[in-house]
Amino acid sequence: MSLTQMHPSPSSGEAKAQIKPYISELNIHLRTANLAARIAADFAGREMATIIVLKGAFVFASDLLRRLAIQGLTPAVDFLRAASYGESDQSSGKVSLQLDLSLDLRGKDVLLIDDICDTGLTLGYLVEHIYRKQPSSVRTCVLVDKPSRRETEFTPDYIGFEIPNMFVVGYGLDYAEEFRCLPYIASLELPGS
Ligand code: IMP
Ligand code: MG
Repeated sequence: MSLTQMHPSPSSGEAKAQIKPYISELNIHLRTANLAARIAADFAGREMATIIVLKGAFVFASDLLRRLAIQGLTPAVDFLRAASYGESDQSSGKVSLQLDLSLDLRGKDVLLIDDICDTGLTLGYLVEHIYRKQPSSVRTCVLVDKPSRRETEFTPDYIGFEIPNMFVVGYGLDYAEEFRCLPYIASLELPGS
């Protein structure tokens, strides 16, 4: 069965969710290289630390970090895990930390990498959390931004793709833990939506 055909919805068993390719693997690779060049220029000569937000950012971050290495930057890497969505496509509006940092960030220039900025609540919360560890600075990078959904003032510093109000999966982004490993970004249409 092709990836663009109907998939069973993980929550209902019977109902179907449909995915359609939206941003190609090639476009993602080109854009990631472009972001890495900008980030490398901005962080040159700094003591840089990168923080990857689990789970969704792991695919994009692994591309971005290898692109940064090509640009001559090999920063320290750490992970945070936050949850704001349950097993659905609607935010609970509350963010909780499920895995904390182990790196000492004092005096470091931090790049926080996430898959998507939607309401902005998760990244806003995580940036505040990281600042408590006394880094010199914190900048944020997301693969996808949905500015029309924002519920806070938050704007990421580096944005791969700005998209309208739609639900996307693939390249690390999931719907109820499905579709994370698609090698491109797809739109997800749920039954009845
Ligand atoms: P926030 O609303 O900006 O706090 O985003 C919280 C989290 O919601 C993100 O890190 C994603 O895990 C998830 N999310 C938001 N929009 C989408 C989407 O379109 N597809 C998949 N996950 C999403
Ligand atoms: Mg998610």
